[in-house]
Amino acid sequence: MIIGSISEDLSLEKRVAITPDTVKKYKTLGLDVCLKKSYASHLGISDDQYMKEGASFLETNEEIISKSDAILQLNILKDEDLNKLKQNQILVGVLNPYVNEKKIKEISSKNIKCFSLELLPRITRAQSMDILSSQANLAGYKAVVDSFAYYQKAIPMMMTAAGTISAAKVLVVGAGVAGLQAIATAKRMGAIVFATDVRLASKEQVESLGGKFLTVEGSENMETEGGYAKEASEDFKAKQEELLKETLKKIDIVICTALIPGKKAPIILKKDMIELIPSGSVIYDLAASQGGNSELTKVDQIVDNNGVKIMGEANILNKLPVSASNLYSKNMFNFINNLFDKEKKTFEINLEDEIIEKTKV
Ligand code: NAI
Repeated sequence: MIIGSISEDLSLEKRVAITPDTVKKYKTLGLDVCLKKSYASHLGISDDQYMKEGASFLETNEEIISKSDAILQLNILKDEDLNKLKQNQILVGVLNPYVNEKKIKEISSKNIKCFSLELLPRITRAQSMDILSSQANLAGYKAVVDSFAYYQKAIPMMMTAAGTISAAKVLVVGAGVAGLQAIATAKRMGAIVFATDVRLASKEQVESLGGKFLTVEGSENMETEGGYAKEASEDFKAKQEELLKETLKKIDIVICTALIPGKKAPIILKKDMIELIPSGSVIYDLAASQGGNSELTKVDQIVDNNGVKIMGEANILNKLPVSASNLYSKNMFNFINNLFDKEKKTFEINLEDEIIEKTKV
């Protein structure tokens, strides 16, 4: 069996689905790996490095798609490449089925088997495949590093002969995977960190990282059985707004990470709230591509609202694509390892396996 991967649209996506390390792992499973020429050269990884581990290279997407039993990607393929897929081929990636519904319907009508990794269940057995966690963790880290770099003051408290610099105050909105890494990173760099979340369960995690949790009254019933946030009621939102208004007056940097699965990101920082933040502060909105947690966020732009800078990118992972690819490709390998029947040496679509059933689109 052959697995293949073609180059992503580099203007949108710099990560790759297969690294030289994972080629070696696929080979030990008995799978051959076939890649597009210069597959990861934009990351400083040469074709030679892949070939040393046993990968082969082809000139065109068409050749790779026609040879491969499974195509492993980040994003869904462009129309011209999707049209080349054949019956019974497998396509794995972050296919975003709610956005790409039309494309997915077309390819599944041809009996192409699509799996979307963002649909993985959050169960223990799937943790090693969990791309949402591996990528959100890096995003939380990078949002802090970038906003600190952009902020025009020092972060930790410094006592010098010339006077004292006070520590920067950071507010993290949403304490899931990205938020918790943001708290840890900001603490390591010497900031004083506050955090809030609708899930009261996150309070203990925030406090264990040295953050101060801001509890909104009424957050006891805001978690689904799967551990995700429910959409907040109007009453809850009003209470959250009051609490945040008080805190924002003294905050230097806000990192927004709040998401509700399958829905637009909740607007938490309204314009009048942003106006309370001291001039010179920075808001990094990690939810930008899902609509943003701040009312003023514009994707891939830095908005200046009375001296408060609001930033948010379509894909922050493009700023650390090597680390992101290393983790993503391992998540992908673990998924394929589960899908591949080692005895029959074929891909087995066992719908009784929760991981396969939930990710199949
Ligand atoms: P996410 O990316 O969907 O959302 C980020 C955070 O925003 C969440 O903590 C959410 O509660 C919060 N949020 C949503 N609306 C909000 C609002 N209006 N105000 C403030 N905060 C708001 O979440 P993520 O990071 O994917 O984690 C969600 C849950 O999944 C957590 O309980 C986490 O522990 C759990 N998890 C479980 C894993 C497993 O394998 N068992 C792996 C990773 C996460």
